[in-house]
Amino acid sequence: MKSLPYFCRGEVIRGFGRGSKELGIPTANFPDSVVDNLPADISTGIYYGWASLSNGDVYKMVMSIGWNPYYKNTKKSMETHVIHTFKEDFYGEILSVVMVGYIRPERSYDSLDALVTAINDDIEEAKVKLDHPEHLKFKEDNFFTSGPSLSSAPPSTTSTVSQTIMNGH
Ligand SMILES: Cc1cc2nc3c(=O)[nH]c(=O)nc-3n(C[C@H](O)[C@H](O)[C@H](O)COP(=O)(O)O)c2cc1C
Repeated sequence: MKSLPYFCRGEVIRGFGRGSKELGIPTANFPDSVVDNLPADISTGIYYGWASLSNGDVYKMVMSIGWNPYYKNTKKSMETHVIHTFKEDFYGEILSVVMVGYIRPERSYDSLDALVTAINDDIEEAKVKLDHPEHLKFKEDNFFTSGPSLSSAPPSTTSTVSQTIMNGH
């Protein structure tokens, strides 16, 4: 995928809340403006990379992009699971991510257990892959230290431009 690594950031919005409650794997959802800006060659599926909130620590992450076939969502989403235990949820905060690699396509599963097992396998795969030097270097990228605050976020009409700037930062 020529668009990887892909940098983006946006406010954390509420999803259906199933990640925490049903799966035990909380995910942070991005707004439509971020989802709609994805380059055409970033297909739906599961990705891994780095994530940070409000310019704090940078953590490993896994992300699901698509329609969650197990739940048959009608709206495309980008859901990030930050591989860290947080004391509180972070709705409304700015989440910055860089996607560096692709794991697999989204699938439907016969049971919730099978979906949870698949996601936990993704997490383990991401943890190992992100320790490789070619991926580890993005943890230190200045994208994570030079982020704009929400108040300086560009209006949506210029978001395509800002996206381009982010990737060429
Ligand atoms: C690493 C990862 C892999 C996922 N893989 C799938 C998948 O293969 N199929 C699927 O239907 N949903 C998949 N999901 C999405 C979950 O179903 C979704 O996060 C959950 O429904 C919570 O959504 P919500 O935040 O909107 O409540 C995945 C999520 C993550 C974080």
